[in-house]
Amino acid sequence: MSPQKKLTPLIPVKITGTGSYLPEKILTNDDLAQFLETSDEWIRTRTGIRTRHILSPEEIPAKMGIEAGQRALAQGRRSPKDVDLLLVATNVPEEPIPGTAPHIALGLGLGKGAFADVTAGCAGFLYALAMAATMIHAGMAKRALVIGTEALSRFVNWQDRATCVLFGDGAGAVLMEAKKGKAGILGVALRGDATKLGLLRIEAGGVRLPASMETVQAGKHFLEMEGKGLFRAAVGMMAEATRAAAAQAGLTLEEIDWVVPHQANLRIIEALVKRLRIPEEKVVVNIERVANTSTASIPIALDELVRAGKVEPGQILALTAFGAGACYGTVILRW
Ligand code: ACO
Repeated sequence: MSPQKKLTPLIPVKITGTGSYLPEKILTNDDLAQFLETSDEWIRTRTGIRTRHILSPEEIPAKMGIEAGQRALAQGRRSPKDVDLLLVATNVPEEPIPGTAPHIALGLGLGKGAFADVTAGCAGFLYALAMAATMIHAGMAKRALVIGTEALSRFVNWQDRATCVLFGDGAGAVLMEAKKGKAGILGVALRGDATKLGLLRIEAGGVRLPASMETVQAGKHFLEMEGKGLFRAAVGMMAEATRAAAAQAGLTLEEIDWVVPHQANLRIIEALVKRLRIPEEKVVVNIERVANTSTASIPIALDELVRAGKVEPGQILALTAFGAGACYGTVILRW
């Protein structure tokens, strides 16, 4: 690739604010061991997780996205009326109809801007990020809020130790706007492998199998996962997408300053960076504290990195995720 290619972003749209929100209530591994046949040792060594944040029953899930969005706006010194596009990535909507985005738009006071939900498993935030950037670049919007928000605690079976220990609740947000200069999106590789759609699902509650007494009694509204299959697929999918996005950007993997991976399992992250030969100090990991927050995981980790003052203008970030569907992908951007 020519040096010129490296200087010109594929999509000259920049992240100008980040925000995140985690519910107050913290559940430790020892708390889980009070009612499940598990242990802190098992969970830590298999997943890297020590704690997770959980919505309490009286909390409204959309509050997480609203808070994260407000924090991103405050950091970007913008008000809700400056935003004309809101994309919300989530797997489990506030209500089947009308979804989550209108609830967040209302809570933020967005006025008459466009809003929509994006569902692409845990990769949903990256899909939404790429869509928002493209729409801004094409002149369909001026400023976008992209929010990943997830409350999977309300869909896991708290009797199933193989799944419930893995997930946490939370939300993350980014504000995006067009900017002249070197910052922006350099490479995008969004992918899917629908032959793997059975690896992670909630079988009932959609139009294929609507809610009924039978579906409730059979436990079909809980998240079901084939952990081993996902584990095996995850590393290859994120590595492939990261290589493709880097090639599109005209960058080598060594030129990446920060990798912000979906936080599904510490062992998956370690295997990924080993395969890509990226030094561990360049990899953002917060799974120990927040567990797997699905679509919220990348924007929460990114926000923590930015607020810690670690990202410098001009640095190259690779955001990579995989999840239900199986949707996966990588977005590479220059800060
Ligand atoms: N505590 C104690 N024992 C447990 C627990 C637990 N919490 N969970 C499972 N076990 C037991 C199993 O029952 C099994 O027992 P058995 O051998 O007597 O049958 C044993 O531990 C081993 O179970 P495995 O499933 O083989 O454990 P593994 O090492 O594969 O780890 C895990 C399981 C952590 C789920 C791993 O497979 C994984 O992380 N997979 C990927 C999951 C993932 O990425 N999910 C999300 C992707 S999409 C999204 O983010 C929404």
